[in-house]
Amino acid sequence: MIEIKNLTKSFDGQRNITNDLSLNIEKGEFLAIIGRSGEGKSVLLKQIIGLIKPTSGEILIEGKDITQLSGLPLQEIFRKCGYVFQFAALLDSLTVLENVGIVHLESGKTTDEMYDEVAAKIKSVGLSEDSLKKYPDELSGGMKKRVGLARTLMQSPEILIYDEPTTGLDPISVKRIHELMKKTHDESNATTIVISHDVDIFNYADQVAMLYQGKIVYKGATKDVWDCDNPYLHQFIRGLSEGPIEQSL
Ligand SMILES: Nc1ncnc2c1ncn2[C@@H]1O[C@H](COP(=O)(O)OP(=O)(O)O)[C@@H](O)[C@H]1O
Ligand SMILES: [Mg+2]
Repeated sequence: MIEIKNLTKSFDGQRNITNDLSLNIEKGEFLAIIGRSGEGKSVLLKQIIGLIKPTSGEILIEGKDITQLSGLPLQEIFRKCGYVFQFAALLDSLTVLENVGIVHLESGKTTDEMYDEVAAKIKSVGLSEDSLKKYPDELSGGMKKRVGLARTLMQSPEILIYDEPTTGLDPISVKRIHELMKKTHDESNATTIVISHDVDIFNYADQVAMLYQGKIVYKGATKDVWDCDNPYLHQFIRGLSEGPIEQSL
């Protein structure tokens, strides 16, 4: 589904944020990408969805190199991708119904016409129909993230991307969001990529890839991570201060 070949991105012509990075993601895979803050995880995701262009390298999505596309053909790929932002990014002055329905504006439907569809999505992410009339500041952090996911699911994405979806949540809310992501993956079978710092994600994702110094230093099945002797993975998932990972970037 997604084939990344020799991807290099530099903003200033000096440091390569992604550095000759290669990674394959199968159709329907649920992949967790881990790595320290500032390591370039978001920059990698933004290149996958075509939001920023790499300095060199290829990103094939269903065989098409999106780095060479622009305009309408790029938009078509972009439509297949759903992106759940780190902070749900809801619009404060809109109700939940309007926040979720906003992706339908193009279709010319009013909020009344989209009500049933939005209500079904809101229920599928574990919220009650009452929440539709609420405003974002009446919701908890976990509820906002659910609304953000419902909005993304309105597009029925084939590729679903979450950038640190559990940041700022307590451990129980983290678990619930992970369960929801797993349920969403099982129901939609969308190719799913999640950036996470939380090792609990290993209980839900199929595969894990670790980013370090611009490259994927490990990719394998999540069920094997705790027995794996890759020194970067070993140090990172246990949060050890001693190991091959350098102190500063
Ligand atoms: N638009 C940009 N211009 C210049 N530098 C950037 C830009 N976006 C990200 N960076 C730099 O790229 C590095 C990786 O950032 P990012 O991908 O956001 O890290 P993270 O792994 O925490 O998601 C950081 O040093 C950041 O400052
Ligand atoms: Mg990031």
